[in-house]
Amino acid sequence: MKVLITGATGDVGSKVVKQLLEFGERPRVFVRDAAKARTLFGEKVEILVGDLGDAASLCKSLEGIDSLFLVNSGPRIPELDELAARSARDAGVKHLVKLSSLDVEQSLAIGAWHEKGEAAVRASGVPYTFLRPSGFMSNLMTWSYSIKREGVVRSSTGNGRRPFIHSEDIAAVAVRALATGAYIGKSLALTGPEALSFAEIAERIGASIGRELRFEPISDEEAGRRFAAAGASPEETAAHIELWRAIREGRLATVTDGVEQILGRGPIHLDRWILEQKEAFL
Ligand SMILES: NC(=O)c1ccc[n+]([C@@H]2O[C@H](COP(=O)([O-])OP(=O)(O)OC[C@H]3O[C@@H](n4cnc5c(N)ncnc54)[C@H](OP(=O)(O)O)[C@@H]3O)[C@@H](O)[C@H]2O)c1
Repeated sequence: MKVLITGATGDVGSKVVKQLLEFGERPRVFVRDAAKARTLFGEKVEILVGDLGDAASLCKSLEGIDSLFLVNSGPRIPELDELAARSARDAGVKHLVKLSSLDVEQSLAIGAWHEKGEAAVRASGVPYTFLRPSGFMSNLMTWSYSIKREGVVRSSTGNGRRPFIHSEDIAAVAVRALATGAYIGKSLALTGPEALSFAEIAERIGASIGRELRFEPISDEEAGRRFAAAGASPEETAAHIELWRAIREGRLATVTDGVEQILGRGPIHLDRWILEQKEAFL
């Protein structure tokens, strides 16, 4: 099986590559920056440089590939997924595993971009598996600055809960899907083991670093202003405000048994992630 991994320098994609390496595979990675890939994986992977918006580089990278792990981000997900799916079909790819989002089920915000991306993949006729994870634990890294500087977490999510998932679990499911083909035609709903409010998560991080942290509820407008100040586009900002509102309204709190069903073990607990990332909050 020859696998092409996109997003290989990112959170989930890099873990998919590392887990495939542990299985003795030599995956091909499709990256924008060869040096970054070399730093991460050394000589253990085959590196092809290109851009997911560039059909020519995609086509070249898909030559001789059986399975594609597809990661696209942001408002261009629909068109970039369509391009990748068409290129995969033309290259004779036998299985496309797309990193989608559980928010597809609510057809909201970023999930709506993925919904269109999934539709494009289905329309291409390439056999697919959609991974639909909940919010990533790694998102919580964005709290490190205000925790370190002020001992505070600000959010417009109110008392709403979300079952954050460890990206190692998403990667493990991706590798299982790629290696076995057992989930072709399926959409896999993946969450962490428990839905927690952002105040509860702040409390756990505080307990781990030995500091009492304050949770400060903020308005949608304030949350949007802060997100945009970090460089997000108006479209991305609006999508995130909608997402946080959905959490506040309790619409994204469902815990699934997807990870356990597929991997035969429970999903990784938030406490492990906090332990792994503790230094970032000190
Ligand atoms: N975060 C969440 O809570 C969450 C929840 C559900 C679903 N998701 C979905 O998960 C996906 C993001 O996964 P992630 O967090 O693992 O990604 P990530 O860490 O943000 O990394 C994105 C990867 O994609 C690459 N990339 C971006 N644009 C590219 C382009 N035009 N051509 C080639 N490569 C490109 C980046 O390369 P460079 O290193 O060159 O930048 C990087 O390797 C998104 O689709 C998101 O909607 C996220």
